[in-house]
Amino acid sequence: MPGHPSPTSMGLQFPEGFIWGAATSAYQIEGAAATDGRGPSVWDTFAKTPGRVRNGEHGDVAADHYHRWSTDLDLIKELGLRSYRFSIAWPRVVPGGSGPVNRKGLDFYRRLVDGLRERDVTPMVTLYHWDTPQELQDIGGWENRDTAYRFAEYAAVLAEALGDAVPNWLTLNEPKTVVQNGYLYGSHAPGKRDEAAAYVVAHHQLLAHGLAVQAMRPHLSPQTRIGPALNLHPCYPADESAEAQQATVLYDGYENRLYLDPILKGHYPQDVLDDVARFSPMQKHIKDGDLEVISSPVELLAVQYYCPIYVTGAGETVRKHPTSEAFWQQIYPEGMYDILTRIKKDYGDIALTITENGLPCPDVMGPDGTVQDTGRIAFLRDHFAATHRAITDGVNLESYHVWSLMDNFEWQEGYDERWGLVYVDYASQQRTPKASARWYSGVIRDNGL
Ligand code: FCB
Repeated sequence: MPGHPSPTSMGLQFPEGFIWGAATSAYQIEGAAATDGRGPSVWDTFAKTPGRVRNGEHGDVAADHYHRWSTDLDLIKELGLRSYRFSIAWPRVVPGGSGPVNRKGLDFYRRLVDGLRERDVTPMVTLYHWDTPQELQDIGGWENRDTAYRFAEYAAVLAEALGDAVPNWLTLNEPKTVVQNGYLYGSHAPGKRDEAAAYVVAHHQLLAHGLAVQAMRPHLSPQTRIGPALNLHPCYPADESAEAQQATVLYDGYENRLYLDPILKGHYPQDVLDDVARFSPMQKHIKDGDLEVISSPVELLAVQYYCPIYVTGAGETVRKHPTSEAFWQQIYPEGMYDILTRIKKDYGDIALTITENGLPCPDVMGPDGTVQDTGRIAFLRDHFAATHRAITDGVNLESYHVWSLMDNFEWQEGYDERWGLVYVDYASQQRTPKASARWYSGVIRDNGL
């Protein structure tokens, strides 16, 4: 179509060696919830509590990846992905959260990691994607400081078992989502609404991150990299008023600096600490030495970008862009550019990887057996283009993982929201690459748009 850029004709070449991949997480795809010694997690409990998840759905079977891992890896290879970011289920490896290690659980992840390497795909492992072992939750979960130490022990077990084969490790996935969805809104496990507890949970997760970094190091080669996976939201004033500008600064503190500053600068943002003190005893839980632990050196920052936030003078949020099927998502590709360049400006040149970015679409399989998810192609194309501009402007970004490799259990939305490049028919567990997957293969092959 003359005058209209087709998805592959934008003339944007990515740097040589740029790595393209896709991401998943354990509870969302594995299933096999009680197989081979896996213990229950907070998400098993939450999803089985009536009224918590749409249609009463849960992850008992999910995409059955625990049994289909080998053909799933074949698909990853066939699509041309060069990096696969997945998470390890804590309760599969340490079923009670502390104590005995489950050999069968470890063996599963060893097979996965070896299978990826045989296919020339680099594994990127997330240690925690929200599946806290239920036994730890029963004694306070992240409200209990001990959980941070249990997490570090579990991290050391994995570093020892898989350290030789995994070059990139991510500690926690989106600690902010656990704080907000898990402890403020109650929409995720463990389903609490307790702002006092929420920020204690923030601190203990950050402590867990730092303790894990320290516990893993002795088991890893000097080249192996560790970092956190943070969902970052560029925050903009909703209007030009001084009030909106001011409210936006604090909002940004809660969304971004509360996690970035302690890890990368070794201190909490004072404006957020002061504000939190109005309703949470967080500060009492920050012990001497904690910030040194939390700011243990990391080599990688994993960025997850889905949408911007616009803040009014009253500190409320408003929408300015088209939304997606996910009620919380506004589509704004420029936000990707803004957040990447802002990290460089405020935190320096740490290596960055995008570990999540994607769009849910009302995907249906047509009579010809294809899934024409053109909306997803346009979304990815625009976000890739914004990313390209950030790289051109000097951002040290090395890889991009689309969320998600395949349709999966989207937390409180159950299976209705489809985020995958690959369509999953849950009745037959058949996988079908969508049009976006084929298009993405072309991007990877050309290393450009
Ligand atoms: C992120 C989560 C991921 C998935 C996407 C849509 O917040 O890390 O598991 O649910 O959103």
